[in-house]
Amino acid sequence: MKPLRIGLIGYGFMGRAHSNGYRKVNNFFDLEYEPVLKAVCARNQENAKAFAAKWGYESVETDWRKLVEREDIDLIDICTPNNTHAEIAMAAAKAGKMILCEKPLSMNGKEGEQMVKAIEKAGVPNMVWYNYRRVPAVTLAKQLIDEGKLGRIFHYRAKFLQDWTINADLPQGGAGLWRLDLKAAGSGVTGDLLAHCIDTAIWLNGSIDRVSAMTETFIKERKHTLTGKVEKVGIDDACAFLARFSNGSLATFESTRYARGHKALYTFEINGEHASIAWDLHDLHRLQYYDHRDAGIVRGWRSIHVTDGDHPYMGKWWVPGLQIGYEHTFVHQVADFLQGLANKKPASPTFRDALETQYICDAVLKSAKTGRWEKVTKLKSRK
Ligand SMILES: NC(=O)c1ccc[n+]([C@@H]2O[C@H](COP(=O)([O-])OP(=O)(O)OC[C@H]3O[C@@H](n4cnc5c(N)ncnc54)[C@H](O)[C@@H]3O)[C@@H](O)[C@H]2O)c1
Repeated sequence: MKPLRIGLIGYGFMGRAHSNGYRKVNNFFDLEYEPVLKAVCARNQENAKAFAAKWGYESVETDWRKLVEREDIDLIDICTPNNTHAEIAMAAAKAGKMILCEKPLSMNGKEGEQMVKAIEKAGVPNMVWYNYRRVPAVTLAKQLIDEGKLGRIFHYRAKFLQDWTINADLPQGGAGLWRLDLKAAGSGVTGDLLAHCIDTAIWLNGSIDRVSAMTETFIKERKHTLTGKVEKVGIDDACAFLARFSNGSLATFESTRYARGHKALYTFEINGEHASIAWDLHDLHRLQYYDHRDAGIVRGWRSIHVTDGDHPYMGKWWVPGLQIGYEHTFVHQVADFLQGLANKKPASPTFRDALETQYICDAVLKSAKTGRWEKVTKLKSRK
């Protein structure tokens, strides 16, 4: 196997999820490449060392610039807050490294364009971690749609609901709470949660032409962890928008961190001419499917337990009937990236693919401000 030397930046939630993916991938998938955990970068050396010891990284750095310059690193994995993605990615591209970047790609479409330009000029393999594409049930949904099982699609409905920011005493900014700080996050639920819903939607149902959105910031001021002062909250706490897909279907998207009782309820439902499908992150190994072509007396929603060997990815895991979960989506994404390297067929979403989601997020936020329908900037195909 060919070694692929990883330099990981950021050791929080995603740093752990990706490290787990790198460690497991060759145990379950037959691949030409093997990730080698070469170095982890964190600003605090003690924390970096502790993380390296726990996950098996060979070395640590405290400045990502040093990591990017190291000759013994092939791939830079960006697992830091959104406002750092562009600078790191562009430096890594300049240094000729492959790049895996967490979502959202960038703070906005303009910044995303610069990133795409830089990595395409450098010609380095790249991918963005929209991992929900690799939930086997979601991949199965894609397969069924591409096979034409649903026929013409009329409706797409997605939600991503949480409740963790309802407390008005919760500060904004700093470790763990950068998502509430506009300068670090770029937006609130739109870039954080709806970006996932949008990526899945455009993958399953094609591009979105126009949107009409509303957003709300329920708690207007919060103490900032870094300055100690009470500051204005700039992020959207909740966002709901209508959308028209290029294929003529209509959509509703909703996300909030104020839906008491919901921790991470990502759901979508798609209604087509012949059939409908529905999926729910809390029951992620199941796909709900209704086919009007079934005989009338047995027609109804069926709950497909996506665990058989011929279901996407499942032949690599246990035996039929035994399900897998969230962490495995990252293993799958690493596997697909490595397979893409070997086949010279880049795994998606690439930076360019992920730019489309940025354009949609931009249009959503703009529409919430103008109160009008806004057109989505069209993604240009690569020259
Ligand atoms: N794909 C997904 O489902 C998913 C889920 C969660 C987060 N994310 C994305 O992953 C990224 C990180 O989110 P998270 O939840 O892991 O955050 P986190 O707060 O858990 O971790 C962020 C890490 O970045 C480090 N960091 C911040 N600035 C740094 C710098 N200048 N140099 C080095 N390290 C730095 C922090 O110390 C921390 O280790 C975000 O872009 C987020 O949107 C994606």
